[in-house]
Amino acid sequence: MSFTAPITLPGLTLDLHWYKRSVFYEVMIRSFVDSNGDGTGDLQGLISRLDYLQWLGVDALWLPPFYQSPLRDGGYDVSDFRAVLPEFGTVDEFRELVTKAHERNMRIVMDYPLNHTSDQHDWFQQSRSDPEGPYGDYYVWSDTDDKYKDIRIIFVDTEESNWTFDPIRRQFFFHRFFSHQPDLNFENPAVREEVANIVRFWMDMGVDGVRLDAIPYLFESEEGNGEGEPPTHEFIKELRSMVDLEYPGRILIAEANQWPREVAAFFGTEEEPECHMAFDFPVMPRIFYSLRSQQSDELVRILSETTDIPDGAGWGVFLRNHDELTLEMVSEEYRQAMYGWYAYDPRMRSNIGIRRRLAPLLDNSRAELELAHAILFSLPGSPFLYYGDEIGMGDNIWLPDRDSSRTPMQWTPDRNAGFSTADPGKLFLPVVQSLVYNYAQINVESQLAQSRSLLHWVRNVIHVRKAHPVFGLGTMRVLSTDHESVLAFVRSYEGSGTHFGDQAEDVLCVFSFAHNPVSVTIDVTGHEGAALYDLFGGGVFPTINEDGTLTLTLGTQSFYWLHIGSAGGRS
Ligand code: NOJ
Repeated sequence: MSFTAPITLPGLTLDLHWYKRSVFYEVMIRSFVDSNGDGTGDLQGLISRLDYLQWLGVDALWLPPFYQSPLRDGGYDVSDFRAVLPEFGTVDEFRELVTKAHERNMRIVMDYPLNHTSDQHDWFQQSRSDPEGPYGDYYVWSDTDDKYKDIRIIFVDTEESNWTFDPIRRQFFFHRFFSHQPDLNFENPAVREEVANIVRFWMDMGVDGVRLDAIPYLFESEEGNGEGEPPTHEFIKELRSMVDLEYPGRILIAEANQWPREVAAFFGTEEEPECHMAFDFPVMPRIFYSLRSQQSDELVRILSETTDIPDGAGWGVFLRNHDELTLEMVSEEYRQAMYGWYAYDPRMRSNIGIRRRLAPLLDNSRAELELAHAILFSLPGSPFLYYGDEIGMGDNIWLPDRDSSRTPMQWTPDRNAGFSTADPGKLFLPVVQSLVYNYAQINVESQLAQSRSLLHWVRNVIHVRKAHPVFGLGTMRVLSTDHESVLAFVRSYEGSGTHFGDQAEDVLCVFSFAHNPVSVTIDVTGHEGAALYDLFGGGVFPTINEDGTLTLTLGTQSFYWLHIGSAGGRS
């Protein structure tokens, strides 16, 4: 396989808001490429595929945890925050990854599960055996298990309580997630200092950003529900000040699975900023809801709610990631509807969500895959792709928990899908061999060889997005239409004048969720008489009427991205 490098814009590396115009790609090191034949992906494997990622148009990688860990929660159970899991490589190899990514103008964002550790972490071992020692107060201990009654249980499939009795210390410890993941005690200044120093440790190595895992849960209180408590926000503000002062240009990303206003709180304010980015959890399930209900109203409602954020803050938009497709941010009625459409087999469910990959969720429909990606790439915020979704990889619901969608990347039709040369029985997870998604059919090599493949389509749409800064930097205005299945909005950007190619532009985006062709009239007031041109091929579309209305026809589950020109002439 060989790839040609895309042209990069001069000055991009110096842009403090680089994350706003970046395309992110979540890659699990364990699942991507095994360079030494031990059956597990590793850092050298990932380094060997940076050319592929650059060819695809990826600007930044998000790496889930690769620290020392007993791997009982996919690495989110860390036993040493300053060490790399030996089967993935070494700290020096990680440094090499950062250097090689930077050589390609690609950035590295790493995951940091700061809320908790593994029970194998030395801090916990010392805390449980020596309550009066230096680590005695590093965790949340109690003589009873009845504190913080209003704090919900997140892993409802496996946990009955947020407290577990430790037979060594003879006290209960608090845990928001698995009972082998004790929560750190953020009331303790020494813990907060450790966290800041761990961020420094990795940023000193050149890391461009940190995803703050489970960020709402740092502090608990009797009065609140333990999600986004005021001291949690205070702590993030301090962390942000440190990053801005010591590592300008590096970013913090909030993983806060909450309602729009609560997620937006993790951006802080102009005066007291918190995270640069936050994942858009409320929007994501509504894209899937609209695809099946053929109604755009829920998406319209939530999009109208989530737009007001401080300057410099940006959403991280995603369709899928390494977790279940969480349904916590939808009503019970919608949740049940989505289980019916997308998780008709109980095996497909996990906690409050669906543990399937994008292509199987959409029943491998090319029209739906294109529509979903077109939304992903045009909503305000930066798109986050999940490895393998660019080729429409399948999942394996016979594997436990979220491993269903963490199987090896499918590179070729050869042994182990080109992921590893190990004996197939030695792989950390088996490659997908199902009828529809078998690696012999779904793999990078064969999709590179077909010009109309999903892979080439995704690459093309990424490059179209990147040619129009309005998608990363512009505002959004949701438009009213006369069709319940249609979502329409205008993205507008005035241009900054500071970057080459940073042009002002208005783009009209129209999506139809209907399972049949439709005709729709859209209110585009403000652009009366403007000419419209398709962003992909330049095709000329009907001009917007003098009264601001526009009537379009759309095929089944299709979309348009249209450049809005000036009234009466091309521009
Ligand atoms: C959020 C991560 O995305 C998930 O994979 C993990 O299980 C929990 N945090 C607990 O660390």
